[in-house]
Amino acid sequence: MAEAPNSDYDLSTPIDPNATGLRQKLPGYGDAHFSLFMRKLFIKALGYSEDALSRPIVGIVNTYSSFNPCHANIPQLLDAVKRGVQLSGGLAIDFPTISLHESFASPTSMYLRNLMSMDTEEMISAQPVDAVVLIGGCDKTTPAQLMGGISANKPIIHLVTGPMMPGSYRGVRIGACTDCRNNWAKFRAGTLDIEDIAALNEELAPTGGTCGVMGTASTMACLLVALGVMPINGATAPAVSSARLRIAESTGTIAVQLAKSRLKPQTLLTRESFLNAIMVLQAIGGSTNAVVHLMAIANRHPLIAGTINLSTIDEIGRTTPLLVDLKPSGDNYMTDFHASGGMLALLHTLSPLLHLSAMTISGLTLGETLSTTPFRPFSPSVIHPLSSPLYPASSLAILTGNLAPAGAIIKASASKYRHLLSHAGPAVVFTSSADMAARIDDPDLDVTADSVLVLQNIGPVGNPGMPEAGLIPIPRKLAAQGVLDMLRISDGRMSGTAGGTIVLHVSPEAADPGSVFGVVRDGDVVRCDLEGRRLEVEVGREEVTRRIEERRARGEGGKAWEVREGTRGYRGLYMREVNQAEHGADFGFLTAAGPRAGVSD
Ligand code: FES
Repeated sequence: MAEAPNSDYDLSTPIDPNATGLRQKLPGYGDAHFSLFMRKLFIKALGYSEDALSRPIVGIVNTYSSFNPCHANIPQLLDAVKRGVQLSGGLAIDFPTISLHESFASPTSMYLRNLMSMDTEEMISAQPVDAVVLIGGCDKTTPAQLMGGISANKPIIHLVTGPMMPGSYRGVRIGACTDCRNNWAKFRAGTLDIEDIAALNEELAPTGGTCGVMGTASTMACLLVALGVMPINGATAPAVSSARLRIAESTGTIAVQLAKSRLKPQTLLTRESFLNAIMVLQAIGGSTNAVVHLMAIANRHPLIAGTINLSTIDEIGRTTPLLVDLKPSGDNYMTDFHASGGMLALLHTLSPLLHLSAMTISGLTLGETLSTTPFRPFSPSVIHPLSSPLYPASSLAILTGNLAPAGAIIKASASKYRHLLSHAGPAVVFTSSADMAARIDDPDLDVTADSVLVLQNIGPVGNPGMPEAGLIPIPRKLAAQGVLDMLRISDGRMSGTAGGTIVLHVSPEAADPGSVFGVVRDGDVVRCDLEGRRLEVEVGREEVTRRIEERRARGEGGKAWEVREGTRGYRGLYMREVNQAEHGADFGFLTAAGPRAGVSD
């Protein structure tokens, strides 16, 4: 039966350029009424009625991919979000964007994070949506979605897929991916045999969902809550739980409210939101990757860009204790955090330190949200009280010095051999990942437990995507002697699930022809001083200058630096446009300070 005629085809009534619903963002046929007529006839091919099309439209970003087990439950989540939207009087329409999984994106998922953010921004901007539910989970997906969402500046709400369950091997709980790395290190050292490692491979990821420790995915989920862009119960419920589906349904309900209230991320997010997120990052012993992502996210926001930097991370760390006992800084899994009250318990515990006036997606401030959800933490071994922290302060610290003038980061709480946090030793330098792979296990490698392992040229440009190769393996001959940790330094990243005394994100990266890190040589004494927040190479300034000038004269910046102008496609775009880690490794032209401010419609 034909639908009743309506004003959409009344040529005497201009279509409001600020319209909502299906009337917004019309394609450019030069005749707005005709564009709307065309849009409606095509969407009716999917069976929608005029009644349905008159409702607030909630877009749902679908990042399901058969290459992404962290997003395995998205079909069920989609159903639940749609239920929430439609029970609340909205119209739910899902659409795909890129999906990224850590193990299925070469050279590294970080290489594609900015592409995913562009995809997210452009699809949100281009399509007629009044609010958007961003379903993500795996490490780079949620930051990409928030970066794109801030730039598009339409109402958004995040929904994460949730953590996977832990597995079990010989009666011991295990989980991706801290235990992947621990056990692989034991296998390399010869203390696990090939049957053990094969059996572990069957159990380390026993369900769909994101890694079940405080890796980057879990960290970012907690930060989304702290920022106020995801409901307070949204971070920790397991991927396979019914709670996760109920969270999805309520996310759909809130999305309809957002479609009506038009609360946009550039309004919702304030500097206080970011300060809260950094406090939570320190309190959970979160991933070092989250620092890069937070910088990129902050620098997308026109009013916040430049006001949050690495110093902010360090300053807040000095007064924020580590409270959450999860791997890799502690012993537990995300399921334990959830069972202990999750983010609600943590935010109540941290509330004396938090900025409670920060706004949240519910339309209430953080303080109002907490006062309407009273909670008495009951599991001090997983969520420590402020009076008895797991680690007193600065789980993540920022180092500077002649080796890293623009900064470097260390996750001090993930170092179990704390003497290494203040250590000096002779450098053993690898000039690339390939060089390291070729020589790290050479029995003749001139290395001792006191050496400092240096890996160059895995920075944003040097090895496009800044791979998670910063967890330099302990040379096999030392591992076999029982050496479990060494001071290791690189301009790359490390998985949030990894631990050790690892300095990362050294900037400027080695590939930069002016980089001091790029001219460190075997035998140079390298010093890390956590207390003094210093990272130095004990080589005189004149010698450093001489080496840099020599390197320049030879035309030898990092190889990638030299070839970027002539590199085609996305890789060329990435190499030319990516900024350094302390700015978020974003593309300069996408930042709020870039050539065009973010869309602000
Ligand atoms: Fe997706 Fe760890 S691989 S969260």
